[in-house]
Amino acid sequence: MAHGHKSDEKIVYVGDSRVIKKSQEQRLIPKDYSAYPGKSEAFIPNFLLKEWMVGVVVLVGMLVLVMSDPAPLGYPADPKNTAFIPMPDWYFLFMYQLLKYPYTSGDYVVLGAVVVPGLLFGGLLLAPFLDTGKERRFYRRPIASSLMILSLIACTYLTYTSWSHYQVELKEKNIVPEHIKREEEMHANKGAAGGGGAKETKKSAAIVAADDPGAEIYKKATCLSCHGAGLKGMPASGVPPLLGVGDKHPQEEILGIIKNGKGNMGKQYQANIDKGLSDADINKLAEWLSKQKVQ
Ligand code: HEC
Repeated sequence: MAHGHKSDEKIVYVGDSRVIKKSQEQRLIPKDYSAYPGKSEAFIPNFLLKEWMVGVVVLVGMLVLVMSDPAPLGYPADPKNTAFIPMPDWYFLFMYQLLKYPYTSGDYVVLGAVVVPGLLFGGLLLAPFLDTGKERRFYRRPIASSLMILSLIACTYLTYTSWSHYQVELKEKNIVPEHIKREEEMHANKGAAGGGGAKETKKSAAIVAADDPGAEIYKKATCLSCHGAGLKGMPASGVPPLLGVGDKHPQEEILGIIKNGKGNMGKQYQANIDKGLSDADINKLAEWLSKQKVQ
């Protein structure tokens, strides 16, 4: 390789003979690997093989992790589910938060959605052309460094704010995020499956006393629209099943829940009276529900 030349060497010219080929030092180009005999290796097959083996180890590690602790998925999408707060992935939270401010949303949404991110990412894209200084130390490049530090602080702040808003919203609406619910369910199932091989350690609940007059009243009551004909509720939307509810609440408590509501369930008493049920019917309904026991 003909990089560099000593003074007694013949000067090498590039194409146009007035341009002298620059020496190694002048061109700031690393030496060719042939300058390090015995310290380099062939890319194919030696280096590639090593890379490949590292890749295989990483891949196997990843597979083991994935199989030992599967990532909990959400429930299938349900447009009727109001107990679901859509959130972007964490690395987009700062953009998400940006779009909540008055001058980046509503009438100004173009500013928030296109102009600001466009300037930021465009600037990043053009940085090599805009910032052509040779200096490498960050404290000698005040403009580039302060812009970078400023954007880091902004991103951190926006991400943090977005996340804490989300947490507050979850708490206010009393929502457990789907992936956490799913994970809990999965662990519960695992625990049950591990219990002496008996898959049905938690006896699947069935409707008790289906011929009770309360069952008929239930079908006429408001409860049906949320808790369902099979008393199974809508777990994806945060409506608990009423199967086995008798284990949790005695008749009086169920009556209290009907009259006063509970969490996301509003008061139901008046709505059922309006539907033509009597106070006695509602008592019978509560009695029937209190009989819903698994054991
Ligand atoms: C608008 C939907 C809706 C209707 C209608 C409704 N519920 Fe509920 N119910 C819920 C939700 C949501 C919860 C969970 C409340 C919570 O704990 O945050 C719930 C919880 C309950 C609970 C407590 C269950 C537990 O595991 O602690 C009982 C009991 C109950 N409902 C009974 C009834 C009865 C009886 C009716 C009819 C008179 C009824 N619900 C009508 C939505 C509804």
